Amino acid sequence: MTLRPLLMLPAVLAQQVYVPTSGPSVPSQCVANNSYATSIPSHSFQEFSFTQSETVRTATSVPAPTSTTLYAPPYDSLSHLVPNLTTTQWGNWDPSVTQAPTDTHNPYGNASRNALWSALPISDFTRGIYSATVSPTPIPTSELVLPPPEYFKPQDCYTFPSSFMLGVAGSACQIEGAIADEGRTPVLTDVLTVYSPDTSPDYVANENYYLYKQDIERIASMGVKYYSFSVPWTRILPFVLPGTPVNKQGLDHYNDLVNFVLGKGMLPTITLIHSDTPLQFYPNISDTVIVPGTGGIGYLDSAFQRSYNNVSFEDAFVHYGKVLMAHFADRVPIWFTFNEPLLGARNGKSIDAVLKAHARLYHFYKEDINGTGKISIKFNNNFGVPRDPQNPADVDAAHHFNSFQLATFANPIFLGKDYPPSYKDTVQDYVPLSASDLAYINGTADFFSIDPYTATVVSPPPNSTIKDCAATISHPLRPYCVMQSTMTATGWGIGYRSQSYVYMTPTYFRTYLSYLWNTFRSPIAITEFGFPVFGEGEKTLVDQLFDSPRSWYYQSFLTEMLKAIWEDGVQVIGAFAWSFADNWEFGHFEAQFGIQTVNRTTQERRYKKSFFELVDFVESRRQRA
Ligand SMILES: *[C@@H]1O[C@H](CO)[C@@H](O)[C@H](O)[C@H]1NC(C)=O
Ligand SMILES: *[C@@H]1O[C@H](CO)[C@@H](O)[C@H](O)[C@H]1NC(C)=O
Ligand SMILES: *[C@@H]1O[C@H](CO)[C@@H](O)[C@H](O)[C@H]1NC(C)=O
Ligand SMILES: *[C@@H]1O[C@H](CO)[C@@H](O)[C@H](O)[C@H]1NC(C)=O
Ligand SMILES: *[C@@H]1O[C@H](CO)[C@@H](O)[C@H](O)[C@H]1NC(C)=O
Ligand SMILES: *[C@@H]1O[C@H](CO)[C@@H](O)[C@H](O)[C@H]1NC(C)=O
Ligand SMILES: *[C@@H]1O[C@H](CO)[C@@H](O)[C@H](O)[C@H]1NC(C)=O
Ligand SMILES: *[C@@H]1O[C@H](CO)[C@@H](O)[C@H](O)[C@H]1NC(C)=O
Repeated sequence: MTLRPLLMLPAVLAQQVYVPTSGPSVPSQCVANNSYATSIPSHSFQEFSFTQSETVRTATSVPAPTSTTLYAPPYDSLSHLVPNLTTTQWGNWDPSVTQAPTDTHNPYGNASRNALWSALPISDFTRGIYSATVSPTPIPTSELVLPPPEYFKPQDCYTFPSSFMLGVAGSACQIEGAIADEGRTPVLTDVLTVYSPDTSPDYVANENYYLYKQDIERIASMGVKYYSFSVPWTRILPFVLPGTPVNKQGLDHYNDLVNFVLGKGMLPTITLIHSDTPLQFYPNISDTVIVPGTGGIGYLDSAFQRSYNNVSFEDAFVHYGKVLMAHFADRVPIWFTFNEPLLGARNGKSIDAVLKAHARLYHFYKEDINGTGKISIKFNNNFGVPRDPQNPADVDAAHHFNSFQLATFANPIFLGKDYPPSYKDTVQDYVPLSASDLAYINGTADFFSIDPYTATVVSPPPNSTIKDCAATISHPLRPYCVMQSTMTATGWGIGYRSQSYVYMTPTYFRTYLSYLWNTFRSPIAITEFGFPVFGEGEKTLVDQLFDSPRSWYYQSFLTEMLKAIWEDGVQVIGAFAWSFADNWEFGHFEAQFGIQTVNRTTQERRYKKSFFELVDFVESRRQRA
């Protein structure tokens, strides 16, 4: 792939220019080769018979592995990099057991573990239906029959490179359940719902902690090569800090999970933290939410700026990351340090801690472990597009919006450059980066990871300037200080609406890929994208499975991705669908992002139509190696 010459790339790629016209328009493909039928059709009778035919195919599972690739030495050769680890185990916390453990003298014993749980204002604690790992069963062929194809199909003939990563993604707190089992201690998301009536907690979710083998079996049977999951810090280190014991049951669990993925011929990717910060970082669980209007950046306080027993989040997280990498780097080719860290940032110190912890783990992986896999960090940003691309104020607002959310991390990591002005003007307590910080952080990601669900129409604040808003802590439009809308300048909505904030915006996605590639100059992976069909949860099962709007989402986004690859010169290396099954969406189950359904009573999964079409779209266009 060659980069286009710099001069041909205007810094401002126009989003959408509205050219007024009137009258019906002849289909362009017919005008192009002069094949627009103008003669009068002729009619005739003939013998009628049912002649419609349809090819019936079944999904092709991932082939069994033929060789093993190692990406680092095994743990035995790396244990000196995480010295003096002790392992122990705690088993399940059971609130109905009245006899308290007697090991109160042990700061890391069962009594201490129980105390962490019983201190919480959780009155509705429930367990799921499983308490041990379920053995997988093969998926019957009848479940793997491809659905009737969508009528309208992309007409292009572009292909994906043979190495293109097709994956599915999930995150621990959204699928695992079993939150107090096998030594796990409380995390942020376990208490997200305690003060909010009408919400559902994460206690049970999809019970993937016990159903992971069946979930992986189902994904492998559909022919998906990559499985992206996250590990909760408190399953590995229930007492969080360096010097505290490692949880043997937690290590064993993810060890089995990684080996099971590999045994199916798939490849695992690990995210170190996905909204599940250990609760020990918070003096008061109310601190986990960022109150709007108080000068915060994200929605949740993921504690990046905090410390616990005088150990900073940064140091403690780096220790946890090292423990996990030392144990699994031999078999895991791709690591993500943080998931969407901006949404968990409170202040300038939060951003600083994320950047430095990320860079330290990158250097550890490359220089101490000598890992040959890849490291990245997942960013969120629903692409801001100018309301009127010919209005410079709208274009400035869109740049402000996108750069705040992306360049704040990506300038240092991908370009070795300082934070953007959008961030420094808004977050007055930002921690300055020295030249040596920048030299250390520069180049600490092997590719750019983005979760580009949708787009948003951006214009300046109506009654002030971006700069004035940025300087006013209580301004309602902070932190981005722009107007966001789902309406375009024509008076039409930006796209087909989902059950959530997602609108179907495939053409903006193509522009977004150009923006990212030309701004940060790194190969791009789409680490999450997906579409919760409006009202899906209210439909019968058979209608939920026939999820055409989700197919349109994936087919149109991937078609535009191929145009970006082939027509715009953008390097895109992979795409991970969110999510492999309907799951817990931070307080509820209504926004169903899954490409499989989950029965909340029986935990039974079923493939939706879009799962087949997503895989078929990519695999039918994949170049043979
Ligand atoms: C030319 O016309 C044919 C038949 O009407 C159509 O299928 C095809 O897409 C057209 N080709 C181009 C390049 O527009
Ligand atoms: C590990 O333990 C040894 C022996 O007790 C001690 O000398 C060393 O300082 C410890 N290392 C760390 C990093 O705690
Ligand atoms: C906690 O209790 C379980 C079950 O009694 C026991 O196996 C385990 O060793 C205990 N853990 C610690 C850290 O004492
Ligand atoms: C925790 O914070 C909330 C909200 O600020 C406050 O109302 C409550 O009193 C605090 N609890 C404790 C134990 O300090
Ligand atoms: C944290 O550090 C402060 C100041 O050095 C000290 O007074 C305090 O005892 C320390 N707390 C813990 C839990 O180590
Ligand atoms: C990684 O490479 C460095 C430099 O070559 C070397 O000093 C170090 O021992 C290697 N680490 C391992 C775990 O092999
Ligand atoms: C960042 O690192 C790249 C190489 O990885 C180098 O080309 C670039 O000049 C560095 N940027 C700065 C500002 O030093
Ligand atoms: C879940 O499964 C149960 C038992 O098979 C069934 O009665 C129920 O209708 C299912 N729920 C949905 C939403 O399909």
